[in-house]
Amino acid sequence: MKLAPSLLSADFGNLRAEAREVEPLADYFHIDVMDGHFVDNLTIGPPVVNSLRKGLTKPFDIHLMIDYPIQYASRFDLTPVDMITFHIEAKDEPFRAIEEVRGLGCKVGISLRPVTPIAAVFPYLDFVDLALVMSVEPGFGGQEFIPGAVERIGRLREEIGDRPVTISVDGGINEANVGKVVKAGAGLVVAGSAIFGKPDRIAAMRALIAAAEKIQ
Ligand code: DX5
Ligand code: ZN
Repeated sequence: MKLAPSLLSADFGNLRAEAREVEPLADYFHIDVMDGHFVDNLTIGPPVVNSLRKGLTKPFDIHLMIDYPIQYASRFDLTPVDMITFHIEAKDEPFRAIEEVRGLGCKVGISLRPVTPIAAVFPYLDFVDLALVMSVEPGFGGQEFIPGAVERIGRLREEIGDRPVTISVDGGINEANVGKVVKAGAGLVVAGSAIFGKPDRIAAMRALIAAAEKIQ
């Protein structure tokens, strides 16, 4: 399992230091970009994300919860190991959004809300690197995990078959459920409050990794 701490639960006034603290055990930094339209919340955008990169070495996993990913994706400074994930429910046509992000030379992911049938992403699996299953309604950290996500991950895993597509899961992940989502097929786990809500973030990440290794 790979782990992506979600900076949404970090101290936004102290973002780089917070990111550095978790960097030793982070495979990616998960960065939630929200526009106040796609979801009922506003976070950070390209200027802050691009500035944050200085002094950090792990790749960025940028989760766009915005209506118009095509318009904004190119404003992020990206490398081939970074990833941009947009939502299938956004207003841009998904194949066009995939093409746009690919053209930026980074990895591309597609995500879906808990209410959207999992089969909605199946037509895109030949064209993406990652499929992000939301296990809470997107918009806020610290919400409770929706248990139905486990079965959705399993169905997606089956459909992916041999394709080189990673399943990611985001929302309400903690020590009690991380084993279940990994067993179902999640390869990249996002966790916000379960890491930044704890006084010792490295210990919290170790605990998540250890819990994921146990058969649930
Ligand atoms: C929610 C975000 C998540 C959020 C997860 O819309 O996409 O990345 O930060 O936070 P936790 O792990 O606290 O649910
Ligand atoms: Zn997210």
